[in-house]
Amino acid sequence: MIPFVDLKAQYQSIKKEVNEAIQGVLDSCQFTLGSEVAAFEKEFAAYSGARHGIGVNSGTSALHLALLAAGIGRGDEVITVPFTFMATVSAIDYTGARPVFVDIDPVTFTMDPARVEAAITSKTKAIIPVHLYGQPADMDPILAVARRHGLVVIEDAAQAHGSEYRGRRVGSLADMACFSFYPGKNLGAYGEGGMITTDKPEYDRTLRMLRDWGAEKK
Ligand SMILES: Cc1ncc(COP(=O)(O)O)c(C=O)c1O
Repeated sequence: MIPFVDLKAQYQSIKKEVNEAIQGVLDSCQFTLGSEVAAFEKEFAAYSGARHGIGVNSGTSALHLALLAAGIGRGDEVITVPFTFMATVSAIDYTGARPVFVDIDPVTFTMDPARVEAAITSKTKAIIPVHLYGQPADMDPILAVARRHGLVVIEDAAQAHGSEYRGRRVGSLADMACFSFYPGKNLGAYGEGGMITTDKPEYDRTLRMLRDWGAEKK
């Protein structure tokens, strides 16, 4: 049997580096939102071609907070795909908004841009295309429809760290992008983790407050 993901083999290959990094966190006693998180936010945002990176506890929280930062709530509709991990849809539900499904393209397994416009109503506020199995959604036509209707676009990039669409990395293609660092992901943490990337300072500020009980400063 060849395992699909072999975290033990991966750990063995980088054991010294990981152990030293974890020991450094233990020594510093900065267990939440410390300097390592700030450094990783900077590095990962730059890697993804975005100005800001906001670290959170999971990809699910990244999606939930991105929707809240965009002002999504009860009575709103958010368009996404039915063929994804359930967290995409749950995050919409957590805000009180209603998920509206647009089917996938059978060749790419990602949102079919030709079907998006028909799903838009007066209640639609946002679109979440999912970059599934590392395959970026066809963003240009999705963004074009969104701009025509004044909708926010949030990439679900939980499975697509480092993927490129027309020469640009996912994470920098729309208003916000959400990543997961669940251990088996392309970039997995030793525990759970997530991040939102964005170019917009107003989303950056709101997200930093939302992840820390509304505080801008301790
Ligand atoms: C497409 C997709 N969206 C969201 C998530 C949620 O991420 P997390 O498990 O870190 O909450 C995952 C992964 O589990 C995912 O594959």
